[in-house]
Amino acid sequence: MARPTADHTKQTSSSSSSSSPSPPSSYSSSSSLALRDVSFSIKPRTWVGITGRSGSGKSTVLHLIDRLYDPTRGTIRWGGQEDLRHFPPTELRRRIAMVPQRLQFFPGTVKWNIAYGSVNSGHLGSAGSTRAAAKAAGLAVGVGQSSNTPNGDPLISLNRSTHALSAGEKQRVALARALGRNADLYLLDEPTANLDALKVHDIMANLRRQLDGATVLIVTHSIALLDQCQQILVFDQGQLVQNGSPDDLLQDPSGILYQMYNQVPA
Ligand SMILES: Nc1ncnc2c1ncn2[C@@H]1O[C@H](COP(=O)(O)OP(=O)(O)OP(=O)(O)O)[C@@H](O)[C@H]1O
Ligand SMILES: [Mg+2]
Repeated sequence: MARPTADHTKQTSSSSSSSSPSPPSSYSSSSSLALRDVSFSIKPRTWVGITGRSGSGKSTVLHLIDRLYDPTRGTIRWGGQEDLRHFPPTELRRRIAMVPQRLQFFPGTVKWNIAYGSVNSGHLGSAGSTRAAAKAAGLAVGVGQSSNTPNGDPLISLNRSTHALSAGEKQRVALARALGRNADLYLLDEPTANLDALKVHDIMANLRRQLDGATVLIVTHSIALLDQCQQILVFDQGQLVQNGSPDDLLQDPSGILYQMYNQVPA
């Protein structure tokens, strides 16, 4: 992937625990800016929903916070003070857990692919913690042969290769990898995109419990997930067009969020 550069970022509020880029931010392989004049801050331990049309820059925001890319201009601050670029990469890896939109797996078993998240943060998750993370992500796992659980969910062997999992199962393995971590900040990019509404409902309660006390940025089009958030950021064509609580944003019938909730064609 091309390493992007961003043109500038404004400082964010000192009350923020982790805060955004406020770039123009452009990918080096692209002549146009992926983000323009974006500035926001978020409070520690809040759930922040990020939504908006395809290509509006949602994933780019997460990539900038995860430092897959750096902004070409401006600054992303954590704790209201520190420029993210000053954090040692190992510390960022330890403090941030990410479920990317493009899921990545390593050759090997489901177990290894879940435990890898913990390896990345400095310790290998125990078998118990791997199972607990899988369960929290809505994945029924066992050590024997794959079969069906009493409620009809496929039971997935921890020793099975991730290669032949369904898209929804892979998504839950990726989510389990993040949930197995003890991070401060979770960046979840469409973590339920391949799941049915019932599964999303099941997982939501687990997410709330599991990520209690953490700061969560979640890119999603799911109303059910947005409903869990205290703050919602709506992006459109690389710009932050709405920022506020769901209740406040839903007061505006001309806003994208209102249209999403009411399924009014934009
Ligand atoms: N690696 C890249 N190189 C060049 N341009 C990119 C790259 N990644 C994204 N872009 C462009 O940047 C813009 C924002 O992309 P981004 O992936 O952030 O959108 P998004 O809101 O996450 O979309 P979606 O909902 O489809 O996932 C798009 O115009 C996209 O084509
Ligand atoms: Mg995206």
